[in-house]
Amino acid sequence: MLATPRREINVAVPLRRDDGTTELFHGFRVQHNVSRGPGKGGLRYHPSVDIDEVRALAMLMTWKCAVVELPYGGAKGGVGITPGEYSQDELERVTRRYTSEIMPVIGPERDIMAPDMGTNEQTMAWVMDTYSVSQGYTIPAVVTGKPLAVGGSLGRPTATSRGVVHVTQAALVEAGHDLRGATIAVQGFGKVGAHAASIFAAEGARVIAVSDEHGGITNPTGLDVQRLVDHVAETGTVQGFDASDPIDNEALLALDVDVLVPAAVDGVLNSSTAPSVRARFVVEGANGPTTADGDRILAEKGTVVVPDILANAGGVVVSYFEWVQANQAYWWTLAEIEEKLGGRMRSAYEDVAGLARREGVTLRDAALAIGVRRVAEAHQIRGLYP
Ligand SMILES: NC(=O)c1ccc[n+]([C@@H]2O[C@H](COP(=O)([O-])OP(=O)(O)OC[C@H]3O[C@@H](n4cnc5c(N)ncnc54)[C@H](O)[C@@H]3O)[C@@H](O)[C@H]2O)c1
Repeated sequence: MLATPRREINVAVPLRRDDGTTELFHGFRVQHNVSRGPGKGGLRYHPSVDIDEVRALAMLMTWKCAVVELPYGGAKGGVGITPGEYSQDELERVTRRYTSEIMPVIGPERDIMAPDMGTNEQTMAWVMDTYSVSQGYTIPAVVTGKPLAVGGSLGRPTATSRGVVHVTQAALVEAGHDLRGATIAVQGFGKVGAHAASIFAAEGARVIAVSDEHGGITNPTGLDVQRLVDHVAETGTVQGFDASDPIDNEALLALDVDVLVPAAVDGVLNSSTAPSVRARFVVEGANGPTTADGDRILAEKGTVVVPDILANAGGVVVSYFEWVQANQAYWWTLAEIEEKLGGRMRSAYEDVAGLARREGVTLRDAALAIGVRRVAEAHQIRGLYP
């Protein structure tokens, strides 16, 4: 039962383009499991989106929500579209039509969406509005990751990155090291990577290399991340930043650093790149950055890998806080949110690391075991209907 998604929806999403022609996209929503609560998971707009990718990501969400003890199952959605090739008006029409096609299966008690690759706060506002208009009243809790003006949460934009830093610190402390002074390389300088680099620097770590899809930069004495953020806002890339040397993405993965944070795309640590990794710790900001082969190679070398379903769970934790706040129509302060996030991440890390120590397994195996066990327990207690 756990290997098979509970419900899958495949919808046609026709778009009337700005020039009057029509185009058709394929959209999906998969609810992998709803035994612990409503489905929860992002909406991805990317040309590679298909039912298999959405299915796999929905299953990861089930384990992730269970590892951080959220009352949610796992879900994911997507539309096979290259968002950069369409106008804002066209993306709004695609989003509203997709939402309307999957309307019967979503809702604050059924399945709650959030942004993922290719979607953002604005996308969530359109989903929320379409759903609310159909029901006749405003229902902010149908999505998370929405703008503050329509019931978003403080702390949501930085939550994933802050969670990455919390688990990095816990892993370093467990091994007798300190985050202060630790050297860090971050692949990807987007929503997760840029905030992670800033927070690492603010905590006294030395961020010595970062990259994006165009390439990377390095400075062994530490990059000035705040100035780098301004540089990226001006130029759109980390490249060309002063007081740094260029480095390509593959060389960044092989740097001699304490912590490597892959925070871009999936599959980058694989059978050809993993043998060159020299970092003592790999903390997976991205979903699925390490392939099964890569994972085996890193385990044999003794590299500590903090797995995605634990390392990047800070985003869904604050999404949960956003849903709770929307349900009770009462908003918390940033300090309250960050304190609760830190508590959840540290306690999830302790659960996972404790099992890994007791059973002599990797953090990934321990995290998956905990996730699967919590979901299986919910299944068994609820029983099989009819
Ligand atoms: N945003 C979140 O809250 C969140 C939560 C959990 C997991 N994740 C995962 O984190 C990853 C990154 O998500 P994001 O929201 O930061 O996306 P994003 O689009 O904001 O940023 C992605 C970054 O990666 C870079 N990049 C793209 N292709 C690359 C390549 N081949 N090599 C190096 N860099 C490349 C881009 O230039 C960009 O800097 C994804 O796997 C996503 O599923 C995101």
